[in-house]
Amino acid sequence: MKVMVVGGGGREHALCWKLAQSRRVEKIFCTPGNGGTAGTPKCKNYPLASLQEQVQLAVDNQIDLAVIGPEGPLVMGMADILREAGIPTVGPGKSAAALEGSKAFAKDFMIRYGVKTADYRRFHKSEFQEALQYIETIKYPVVVKADGLAAGKGVTIHKTKAEARAQLHALFVDEVLGESGHTVLIEKFIQGREVSVIVLVDGTQVLPLISAMDYKRIGENDTGLNTGGMGAISPNPFYTDMYRKKFEESILNPTIRGLKSENIDYRGVLYFGLMMSKEDVYLLEYNVRFGDPETQAIIPMLEEDLAPLLYDLALGQLHEDPLRCYDGSACSVVVASGGYPGEYRSGIPIQIDLPIAASIFIAGAQERDEESGAGRLYTSGGRVLSVTGVDRDLTSACRQAYTALENIYFEGRYYRRDIGKL
Ligand code: GLY
Repeated sequence: MKVMVVGGGGREHALCWKLAQSRRVEKIFCTPGNGGTAGTPKCKNYPLASLQEQVQLAVDNQIDLAVIGPEGPLVMGMADILREAGIPTVGPGKSAAALEGSKAFAKDFMIRYGVKTADYRRFHKSEFQEALQYIETIKYPVVVKADGLAAGKGVTIHKTKAEARAQLHALFVDEVLGESGHTVLIEKFIQGREVSVIVLVDGTQVLPLISAMDYKRIGENDTGLNTGGMGAISPNPFYTDMYRKKFEESILNPTIRGLKSENIDYRGVLYFGLMMSKEDVYLLEYNVRFGDPETQAIIPMLEEDLAPLLYDLALGQLHEDPLRCYDGSACSVVVASGGYPGEYRSGIPIQIDLPIAASIFIAGAQERDEESGAGRLYTSGGRVLSVTGVDRDLTSACRQAYTALENIYFEGRYYRRDIGKL
C-alpha cells in the first residue's frame, strides 16, 4: 500500500512511525514532513506548499490511502478533492470540517442535536457594545472563544470583567486574530478535569481510541501561557466508566445522529475535547483530526496495525470489535525551544543519543546535510520533539520518557517536569 500523510508535526511523525511498521505499507509520502519523517523507514518527504501540488502528487503516484493530519487542509476541503480524485482518504470533507473551523458552527450543531455543552452567547464584532453589556451580567470565570482557526490562541479564560473586556477589545478592535476573532462565543466556565477522546468514524461505525490527557500550559502545575501542548498521557486516569457512559449517551451518540441527519458521510477522526465536572461531562470542542500531542501518546499504545485500520475507515468498512491497545500507559513529554510560546531561536543542532526503549517524535526540527554526508537535526519550531515512554503503568512510562530525555540535548531546551504527575 502507498500511503500519503499530510502534515509536518509530531502527530504526523507518530502516524508515519506506526504506518511504517505495517507489512501492508510499501511507501509513505509525507507532505511536507519534518526531520523525523525524513528518517522514518519507507518514508520520504515532499516539501510541497500548495494543496493542488499535494493532490497531484497523490494522483501521479496512485496513492492507495491519504491521511490528512492538520485542520488547515481539512477546512480547505482537501479530503473532498482527494476523494473526487478517487483516493481513499481519512479526513472529513469541508462541510464537516467546519466543526473545528468555526466554533459558532460547532455550537449550533451541538445545540441542534442535544449534545451536552456549556451555555454561551455569540457576538459579532458589530455587537461589541452588546458584548460589553453582557459581560457585566455574568458569573466569572468566563471563557471567550474566537470563532475561527487560531492555532491554539483562540480560547481564553478570564477571572474578571476587566480581563474579559480587554480580550473583547483585542479581538474586535485590535483584531489580533484577524477574521478568526470577528465572531466570539462567551461561554460559561465549567470546573473540572479535561479529557481528550478521539474516535474513528467511517460514516457509520464508530471506534473510540484510548483516552488521553494533554498538558496545555507552558509551566509546571498548569501555570503560564497556553501552548500547542507540552505533553500527554494515555489513558486518562480520571476518565472512569461513569464518564465514558455519560460521554457516549450525551455527546458521542447525539453527535453521530447529527452527522447522519445532516447527510454528512464523516470518514475520519473526530476529537472530543471534554470537561469532566464532578458528576457530568461536557463537550468543550470538536476537532476533526488526531490531537497533537495526544497522538504521540495514543498511537504507541495501539496494538493493531494502523494501515488496514485507516484504509478500512476510508472505505467505510471499519471492524466492529473494540480497538486493541497495550495494557499499560503512555507518557509523552514535549521538548520545546527556550522562549516558546513566545519568541525563540531556530537552527540549533540537536544531539540525540538514545539507547533506550522510548520513542522520539520530531515536530519542529529539520534535517540538514552535514559535510560528513550524514543528516543531522536542527530545531525549526517552538515545539521541537516529544519523547514517549510506554510501560506497564503510568509511573514507569513517565520514568522511561524522562530517562530518555536526559539523552537528548539542544541549547535552550525546555520541558515540563510534571507530565504524568496527577
Ligand atoms: N491537543 C489539542 C489539539 O490537538 O487541538
